[in-house]
Amino acid sequence: MGSGEAWVVMRTGRAPSNIAVIKYWGKRDEKLILPVNSSISVTLNPDDLSATTTIAASPAFVADRLWLNGKEVSMESQRYKNCLREIRERANDVVDEQTGVHIKREDWLKLKLHIVSENNFPTAAGLASSAAGFACLVYTLAQLMGVNERYQGELSAIARLGSGSACRSLDGGFVKWDMGQKEDGADSIAVQIANETHWKDLVIFIAVVSSRQKEVSSTSGMQETVQTSPFLHFRAKDVVPKRIKEMEDAVARHDFSSFARITCADSNQFHATCLDTSPPIFYLNDTSKRLIGLVERWNTQEGSPQAAYTFDAGPNAVLFTTESNSSLLLQRLLFQFPPAPGVVLSSYVVGDLKTLELAGIKSLKDLASLEPPKELAEPKIPLRTPGELAYIICTRPGRGAFLLKDLGSSLIDSTSGLPF
Ligand code: DP6
Repeated sequence: MGSGEAWVVMRTGRAPSNIAVIKYWGKRDEKLILPVNSSISVTLNPDDLSATTTIAASPAFVADRLWLNGKEVSMESQRYKNCLREIRERANDVVDEQTGVHIKREDWLKLKLHIVSENNFPTAAGLASSAAGFACLVYTLAQLMGVNERYQGELSAIARLGSGSACRSLDGGFVKWDMGQKEDGADSIAVQIANETHWKDLVIFIAVVSSRQKEVSSTSGMQETVQTSPFLHFRAKDVVPKRIKEMEDAVARHDFSSFARITCADSNQFHATCLDTSPPIFYLNDTSKRLIGLVERWNTQEGSPQAAYTFDAGPNAVLFTTESNSSLLLQRLLFQFPPAPGVVLSSYVVGDLKTLELAGIKSLKDLASLEPPKELAEPKIPLRTPGELAYIICTRPGRGAFLLKDLGSSLIDSTSGLPF
């Protein structure tokens, strides 16, 4: 391989976002990103929420470079360096089918990379994008460099070095991140507990909140919680281990009541540890609290969980329900949180629109004629607050990371080696 050669070898991969139903919050090792407790997440359908990444290698490249959502960003962060180092160390000989180029394992250590990554959801929405992004980076890089896992979960342990929650985005369906015991983190890996076809009945809505203040990042927020919250240690030691077992059991049995009860309880407990941090961290705002109220009132009215909510390090709600209840939940959301004046329905409810059709809502006129749900009969409850939500994403559990074979999905021009 001479440095004057002009070949470019590349791969494009896609990885989904995930939402934790048992939260990861707090590290026992900052460098290796080892958590204080295990966590469980649901992988979101990559058609609705994912990162797509093209990685190119060429002897003509002079440095590793990264473009995120159209902007070049620095690769100086240790997290990128750690992921790249771990994959390069495991690289194998590769013969590229498209170009016929043969790259030897030792060449990968010298070859520089151009990495271009995009999310299919607006970054401004404040939906965690680091999980999908790092999972996609590690997965696509491993495919490019011919890396095979030596033990199950090895790639997830590398994605974990990019961002803890990223380790749960390689697999589809329901994924557990086992906290592990080893000091080197080799057993702090993600394992799939059920695939995406296991619980077809589950429907997910993401209520993206309009007004957002500057939020404390997960990384620094959890650092402060570990240092100052006595409650976090009780949670990690005495609460989560039992909940993990209960959640695994609820998923295995398609038991929505237990799934919903544990999901809400764990979200609330995570936010309680944020409040127990000194100084306290507030991720939920008034809109988040109204979304909690909507679900809690409905569940109380029916005498059993009809829906569940969970919130990460921000005010957006992720809501779960079952197929048979999905149009009822969407109607409730649209009744209480109609779009701001001038916003059209097609930009307010996005993603998998089957539920909107099921709910019989075709236009804003249909929205205006929605009857208030029974539990809102209480006159003291503020009924409708237009414009509080920016939009609602409808989705479902989905598959894990995969390779896009179609050359048309590449984000890098094979001639210039630069983003399109
Ligand atoms: C609230 O994975 O973003 O979303 O490991 O520091 O990159 P780092 O943090 P990150 O934290 C996610 C926290 C959470 C809960 C969760 O996803 O489990």
